[in-house]
Amino acid sequence: MAFAEWSTFIRQAKDEFMTTGAIGPSGPFLADALCRELRRKDRGPWKILEAGPGTGAVTRRLVRYLRPGDSLTAVEINPSLADFLRKSFRDNPLMADKASQVEVVETDLLKFPGEAIFDSAVCGLPFNNFPLPLTQDLMGAIERLLKPGSLLSYFEYYGIRRLRMALGRKGEKLNKLTEMDDYLVGRERQLGETSEMVWWNLLPAMCRRLRMPAND
Ligand SMILES: C[S@@+](CC[C@H](N)C(=O)[O-])C[C@H]1O[C@@H](n2cnc3c(N)ncnc32)[C@H](O)[C@@H]1O
Repeated sequence: MAFAEWSTFIRQAKDEFMTTGAIGPSGPFLADALCRELRRKDRGPWKILEAGPGTGAVTRRLVRYLRPGDSLTAVEINPSLADFLRKSFRDNPLMADKASQVEVVETDLLKFPGEAIFDSAVCGLPFNNFPLPLTQDLMGAIERLLKPGSLLSYFEYYGIRRLRMALGRKGEKLNKLTEMDDYLVGRERQLGETSEMVWWNLLPAMCRRLRMPAND
């Protein structure tokens, strides 16, 4: 499984680097940080969104925390990765057990319809790999799909944006990185809850959490 997962991921990263945006699947410590909200004792049955599940590194952890009455919708744009994930729900006994609570939707998250559907979202989208307007649209789509007061957890490889900025990018490229930095740091200032640094991951990553504004 691990070999098949890594080889599928690497092949897709090579062919579709902009949307894949990573050299390998997330590790278990990062997956655990991203799923922390699901371990809350005080919650009822939830509808959970996973944006960009890839080969399912985080999905496996989400599935572990699913309770009776929960449902998980995993939205994946890449057909090969969506296929791999669907197959995992047939072949991996730990996932097959919860398959009836999970839907893998093969589409661009931007096209996923609806408003205020989900109680929690975990996102693997590589925001730093996208042009700023696309990142803003995707962030907007997730925020549209989340209920007021719910949490979005996502990750960024630690320091990668600042490193690129420091590595002498100039002109247009530096402007784009600075705009992305302003946007993501701005969202964090507005909606951010405790972030969590995960060193034990390839690459070390920061798990970020944004709380949607509550309805008054
Ligand atoms: C960095 S990988 C993360 C994969 C997995 N969550 C993990 O942590 O190992 C990003 C994933 O987001 C998917 N993706 C990128 N853009 C997307 C979009 N607009 N809609 C849905 N999925 C998207 C990619 O195909 C890829 O599977």
